[in-house]
Formats: sequence, C-alpha cells, structure tokens
Amino acid sequence: MGILDKHKAIETNATLLLILSFFVVTIGGLVQIVPLFYLDNTIEKVEGVRPYSPLELAGRDIYIREGCYVCHSQMIRPMRDEVERYGHYSLAAESMYDHPFQWGSKRTGPDLARVGGRYSDEWHVDHLRDPQSVVPESVMPKYGFLERTLIEGEYIQDLLETHQLVGVPYTDEMIKQARADFVAQVDPDSDYDGLLERYSGAQVRNFDGKPGISEADALIAYLQILGTMVDFSTFQPDASR
Ligand code: HEC
Repeated sequence: MGILDKHKAIETNATLLLILSFFVVTIGGLVQIVPLFYLDNTIEKVEGVRPYSPLELAGRDIYIREGCYVCHSQMIRPMRDEVERYGHYSLAAESMYDHPFQWGSKRTGPDLARVGGRYSDEWHVDHLRDPQSVVPESVMPKYGFLERTLIEGEYIQDLLETHQLVGVPYTDEMIKQARADFVAQVDPDSDYDGLLERYSGAQVRNFDGKPGISEADALIAYLQILGTMVDFSTFQPDASR
C-alpha cells in the first residue's frame, strides 16, 4: 500500500478524518499558546514601567467606565505609518500592569497609547468638556460632567488591593498610603516626596485647574502618564531573544 492509499483511508472515513484533524489542530494550538503561559519569557523587562499611582488608577477606572476604549485603542503596532503618527510601537511591558488591558481594536479616534505629554492639561479640560471646541470635526461626546464630579478616593485602598490580588506589585506600604498619595498628587503644595518615591515620575499638579479632586483630575492624570514611563531615547530592544 503506497502512502497515497493510506491517505485515502483517512479521506474516506469521516470519523477518522475528524479525529486526526483535531489532533493536528491541537498540536498547532499548543505550540502557539503554551509559550505565552511563561509570561516572564514573553514580556521583556523594561526600565521605567511601574504600577499606576492611586490617582492615575482611579482615572483609568473612569476611562473604562466611560467606555473610552470603544473609540480609542492603546496599542501602537510596529508598522511605519503607525510609528510615524503615534511614536515608538507599544511594548508588552508597557501594559503589564493593566487589568484589563486597553489595547482595543476600534479606532474611531486616535490611538492613545502615547498621548501622555502631547497636550497641556488645559487642552484636555477643554477637549473633555467640548471636543468640538478644539477639534471642530470631532465626533467625540462631551464629558463636561467629569470636572463637576468630585471624588474623595474613599475606595482607593480597595482598588489597589484588587490590583495587588491579580498580580500588580503594589506593596503594603503603597496600599497603606494610597489615600494620602491620591490627595497629594493634585496638590503641588503638599508633601509629595513619598508619592514620588513610590511612583517615580508621577506628575503632581492640579490637573483640571479647579479646587477639589474631580474625575477630570484623575482621568487627565491617567492620560498624561500614558506611554511616558519608558525613556525611548535610551531604550534598547533585547536582541538576545
Ligand atoms: C464616539 C467615539 C469616542 C469616544 C467614546 C471617545 N472619544 Fe476621544 N476621540 C474621538 C475622536 C473621533 C477623536 C479625534 C478628534 C478629537 O480630537 O476630538 C478623539 C480624540 C481624543 C483625544 C486626543 C487624541 C490625540 O492624539 O489627538 C483624547 C485624549 C481623547 N479622545 C480621549 C478620550 C477619553 C478620555 C474618552 C472617554 C472619556 C474618549 N476620548 C471617548 C472619539 C471618541
């Protein structure tokens, strides 16, 4: 019996064909998927990436609550048109503390992975309040209520604890100081040395320019840190992998 005859036996027996196809697909799937379980291997360590500060994390929650991801992705693909428009392509490490990740797949608006530092806080306040006032053709909805909604961070410790539970390396000290750090980040007159020690490069200012901590403060703090943690002037991809 030649090899083709053997194959004929498979092709004329639907059950055998199904079983063997399943077997082949399973091997193929395992080869692709199993390496990803060894995340240490998949995500190269990159200097600068740190967990979000309490205020940034609160802003991230608002971003998710308002469904910003419905129109905005946060993943710059390594293709020339993307890199020229948005900056260095996204590294896996840059979203390693994002639960859930915000890569997204819909771009009604631009990718936001590196929007941090691109605009002033005032621009963000105006843009959130009335996007068409700064970009007349924008189809983005108005979010003016964010600057009128004050938040106190009463659940901020729980929020950090939850992220600690899913693997974000928040220390017990960070959780203990969460409320204080939350408040300090919007107040340049506060004692924010501890905050900066725990979250290097955290930006301390009154983001919405108004008294009190508003949802806009938190959201803008989050937007302004996006894509800025890694210093790409010194970053070298690890070529040994
Ligand atoms: C219905 C779709 C839609 C939703 C929802 C939406 N946006 Fe937008 N966004 C856009 C569009 C379109 C633009 C481009 C025009 C503009 O700048 O307004 C944009 C622009 C932006 C920009 C400027 C980006 C750049 O690089 O110029 C930021 C920042 C932004 N959006 C943040 C947000 C945030 C935060 C939310 C949630 C509170 C949000 N967007 C919700 C559609 C949306």
